[in-house]
Amino acid sequence: MPQTILVTGASSGFGLLIATKLHEKGYKVIGTSRNPEKYAIKLPFKMIALDLDSEPSINSLSDRLFKEIGPLDILINNAGFLVNGIAEEIPIELGRKQFETNFWGTIQVTNTVLPHFRKQKSGKIITVGSITGLVAFPTTAYYAASKHALEGYYKALRYELTEFNIRVAMIEPGSFKTNIMENASTTLNRIEDYNSLRTKSEKYADFIVEQGEDAAMVAEKVLKVVQTDKPQFRNLVGKGLSVLINLQHFAYGILEKKVLKQLNKS
Ligand SMILES: NC(=O)c1ccc[n+]([C@@H]2O[C@H](COP(=O)([O-])OP(=O)(O)OC[C@H]3O[C@@H](n4cnc5c(N)ncnc54)[C@H](OP(=O)(O)O)[C@@H]3O)[C@@H](O)[C@H]2O)c1
Repeated sequence: MPQTILVTGASSGFGLLIATKLHEKGYKVIGTSRNPEKYAIKLPFKMIALDLDSEPSINSLSDRLFKEIGPLDILINNAGFLVNGIAEEIPIELGRKQFETNFWGTIQVTNTVLPHFRKQKSGKIITVGSITGLVAFPTTAYYAASKHALEGYYKALRYELTEFNIRVAMIEPGSFKTNIMENASTTLNRIEDYNSLRTKSEKYADFIVEQGEDAAMVAEKVLKVVQTDKPQFRNLVGKGLSVLINLQHFAYGILEKKVLKQLNKS
């Protein structure tokens, strides 16, 4: 029996590549989109509706998934978007929406599958974070904050789920060519003091998009994590990232291990 994998945001970019790759490798893939009917004929795997900004959509996911499709082995939290712009210029409602989708939506989907994973005493949760969940750059404040929040959440969650044989892993891509910039939200608010920084940042963003790497690398990395029984938590993808970030996080890892040792003693 092939493993069943849910891939959120499978209509575009990483999600489409991940879902296609896993389908080609023989997994039973269920993809999601806010408009699954647009992709039903075009895609070789089943697409179901999921809107991370809608409570009813997330609340009905459990029934639609487990009653209609059956047991699930792996959840891949990929759906998300970018709020782009100078932090002070971004209206707070847009900042909240960034968290509603990228953080709260993702957590709620995770909570939907957890009772099933706990019951079956197995499961894997793979979440697409970002390099911006570990470091941050100008004009990405809300996006970086939402991705940092995901890193922290899943870092803690993985320890809570170990005894249920549920594995938790993050994928942290650098900059890749997808539709993320076209689908980004921004503001027309302008504070003159930031004009120079804005111009430089826009130029830099164009450069980064141009230099963006092949998104197929991310699908390859996800496949490896899917195929590994006990994957490592952090999985950076992109040129030259892992050495730098692993060094930075080595020290934090020591602290976490110390706390866990104490916890297990008490
Ligand atoms: N591209 C990069 O360089 C990069 C780097 C690091 C991390 N990431 C992360 O990778 C993930 C995928 O992004 P991408 O680059 O592949 O962008 P993309 O091409 O714009 O794809 C975004 C996907 O997310 C779905 N989505 C967006 N908002 C949603 C919502 N409110 N509810 C449900 N689904 C929603 C979209 O589906 P529908 O529109 O069909 O609903 C789409 O399938 C995101 O989490 C992003 O933060 C991207």
